Amino acid sequence: MNIKIALLSGDGIGPEVTAESVKVLEAIAEKYGHKFKFTSADVGAVAIDKTGNPLPDKTLEICANADAILFGSIGDPKYDNNPKAKVRPEQGLLKLRKSMGLFANIRPLTTYDALIGKSNLKEQVIKGTDFVIYRELTGGIYFGDKVLSTDGKSASDNCSYSTDEIDRIAHLAFKAALKRRKKLTLIDKANVLETSRLWRKHVTALSKSYPEVALDFLFVDNAAMQIILNPRQFDVILTENMFGDIISDEASVIAGSIGLLASASIGKNAALFEPIHGSYPQAKGKNIANPIASILSAAMLLEHLNLFKEAQNIKDAVNKSLDMKVCTSDINSESLFKTDDIGAFIVDYINYPEDYNLKHNNIKIGQSTII
Ligand code: IPM
Ligand code: MN
Repeated sequence: MNIKIALLSGDGIGPEVTAESVKVLEAIAEKYGHKFKFTSADVGAVAIDKTGNPLPDKTLEICANADAILFGSIGDPKYDNNPKAKVRPEQGLLKLRKSMGLFANIRPLTTYDALIGKSNLKEQVIKGTDFVIYRELTGGIYFGDKVLSTDGKSASDNCSYSTDEIDRIAHLAFKAALKRRKKLTLIDKANVLETSRLWRKHVTALSKSYPEVALDFLFVDNAAMQIILNPRQFDVILTENMFGDIISDEASVIAGSIGLLASASIGKNAALFEPIHGSYPQAKGKNIANPIASILSAAMLLEHLNLFKEAQNIKDAVNKSLDMKVCTSDINSESLFKTDDIGAFIVDYINYPEDYNLKHNNIKIGQSTII
């Protein structure tokens, strides 16, 4: 299969983690006889520095011509700490999501046996957790009118949703539930917000077309608590943009590190894959960031293109790396493995799985190959 991939590695640790995904995808292409053509494009603070625009037209064009987009991360403290900044790196990502119509952000969450003891949460609470968040990505408060009064003493952000925006992601979430444990939880704040009441009404109406799926509702404040108290109760979570942003970071604690969580952003004619973590500027250039979220995002990219065997190979390799404690310091503070060691290990495992299965204990810290 010939696949065109737009590579938007962005800011901070984005380029380092994306480079590992490219290595992994190249190994997969070689092994399974595919051709992946990568085209790099600027986005975020690097794009502002070069062109003044966080999402140059050229980048949009490259994305529009690609079969899929692999995204790193964006953000830079020089903008975060400057409330007067007129352009911000984040605008590049938001505009990209909007202009490519990427309305559904899919964030799976599972636990890994090898890491279960590492989470800040108790093992008996998180063991066996397996849910997926369907976050609406191109509407709500993120995209409503933003106003700062002329005297600078008040500001507002408008939150609005149309029934079409609700229905299209709700259908995807119901379909996902059908393939899973057939439970859908809508997270909202319908006791306070008009938009949430519209979500409830429409999702309830749609549920009649999916009689096998059990639908329930949770207010977002309660949901934030339930996710930590009893995460196993969730199967598919459906929610609006802002709530999805917040609860997905919260949920990452269950997996053990935000550095493990991948996501897919899907539209009618486009698809983008990105780690849920940000640009982690403190780690930039240090080769210490965890590339697994990006590598698993690359696996989601392959699944999207129906390359399920290939995606599973990557997921098996990631599991193996965690089982063999080949992980970065966010997972094991004593680990000496670096970002590129993880990528190299995963590539090696893809190429020579039998070596790893045989010489299980022979991996040398600081080296990516088996001795
Ligand atoms: C995410 C990020 C973005 C968001 C930021 C960088 C704009 O936090 O993808 O979750 O808020 O959507
Ligand atoms: Mn976020």
